Amino acid sequence: MTYKLIVCIKERFTKAPSCAGGGSVAMVKQLEQIIQRRGLKMEIEQIHCLGQCNQGPNMRIAPGKDMYHHVTPQDLEGIIDKLAFYNAAEPAPGQDT
Ligand code: FES
Repeated sequence: MTYKLIVCIKERFTKAPSCAGGGSVAMVKQLEQIIQRRGLKMEIEQIHCLGQCNQGPNMRIAPGKDMYHHVTPQDLEGIIDKLAFYNAAEPAPGQDT
């Protein structure tokens, strides 16, 4: 088990805030491009709500690590850096050593 990045891609067709409305779907593609360009092996999981819709786009390193709010494309390299750091530094909970 390794850490993965969870990205909310919830879209709403009302004026209510949603992460997709803030560009999260496009950012998933950018994340995949960064991972491919850097030759990394990482999992991106797309879900439909992290429960903090007013602060989106939201992403989270799981299990049990950093939550990111108001994510912009400029933040993505740094988020991938952090995910790579966790995966290199420590096993995710539940992982045999
Ligand atoms: S819509 Fe993304 S956290 Fe709810």
